[in-house]
Amino acid sequence: MDSNVRPASMERITTKALAEAFIEEQIAAIKAQVGDKKVLLALSGGVDSSVCAALLIKAIGKQLTCVHVNHGLLRKGEPEQVIRVFREELGANLIYVDAVDRFLDKLAGVSDPETKRKIIGKEFIDVFAEEARKLEGIEFLAQGTIYPDILESQDGIKAHHNVGGLPPELNFELVEPVKLLYKDEVRVVGHTLGLPEGMVERQPFPGPGLGVRCVGAITRDRLEAVRESDAILREEFAAAGLQGKVWQYFTVVPDFKSTGITDGKRTFDWPVIIRAVNTRDAITATVEELPWDLMKKLVSRITSEVKGVNRVLIDITPKPCATIEWE
Ligand code: XMP
Repeated sequence: MDSNVRPASMERITTKALAEAFIEEQIAAIKAQVGDKKVLLALSGGVDSSVCAALLIKAIGKQLTCVHVNHGLLRKGEPEQVIRVFREELGANLIYVDAVDRFLDKLAGVSDPETKRKIIGKEFIDVFAEEARKLEGIEFLAQGTIYPDILESQDGIKAHHNVGGLPPELNFELVEPVKLLYKDEVRVVGHTLGLPEGMVERQPFPGPGLGVRCVGAITRDRLEAVRESDAILREEFAAAGLQGKVWQYFTVVPDFKSTGITDGKRTFDWPVIIRAVNTRDAITATVEELPWDLMKKLVSRITSEVKGVNRVLIDITPKPCATIEWE
């Protein structure tokens, strides 16, 4: 548990049997590290934090407290899924924090992408630290750090602590049970732990969430248009058998309108932009060539079901020269 170096002898976890052995080993290691003390974990619902939480629940049950912060920028159904899986099915101690108004109020009128990211990151730490201070006797912080995070932080590409920047008085010892695993191994462990397919095979989702897909200053109505169109896109990709095959796909709603016509009446509404890309490392990306029938279905559903939208565009720009996200 102390080492941040994956031993050369460590076998790649590719099967249920190997995952079971890893789970047993980590349960023993977690119990040895934590004893009868309490552990806190920020549970986003992403693959890494979910697998980390499920492992800790198996090892120490109610000694773990999970905090799920809903910042209002999550995809449709995500907070509900976290509550259903962790509180109801796995019996976890889960604190659900509805911080939607708090985040959206702070973000109101802010259009610069990096300022939006900073506000979301800082507010997240503030909310999490507030919850941590309310709890007594917590000595450990569990994090779903994975091996690429460690490698990238050693290379100076990014800081790997998922909840970095906590106030100094919250001086927790870290518990990082999946820190020597690659993403594909985390997924095998997640399946073996019985987490739902949709949670384990989830596509990458940025920390600032839908906030960077609601271009410019976020408004609640445009954010809803992003969330609803994203849900339709995910549904249709799943129906077309593309879930798990396309690396990342999402919708963007820009902050301009165009003229349209519905039932003989002029409309002036937003467009929805569809982006679907494939990549290995997110440094470069190619565009998925979508079947025409799927595109027609998406246009029809999005323009009829999403409020305030009268046009659908498809972004066919690779990275470079466009980044994957619009902001
Ligand atoms: P870009 O837009 O830089 O995205 O081509 C590359 C990958 O990184 C994700 N991304 C982020 N992830 N916080 C994150 O946790 C961020 O601020 C952020 N910005 C982009 C993006 O979704 C893609 O997978």
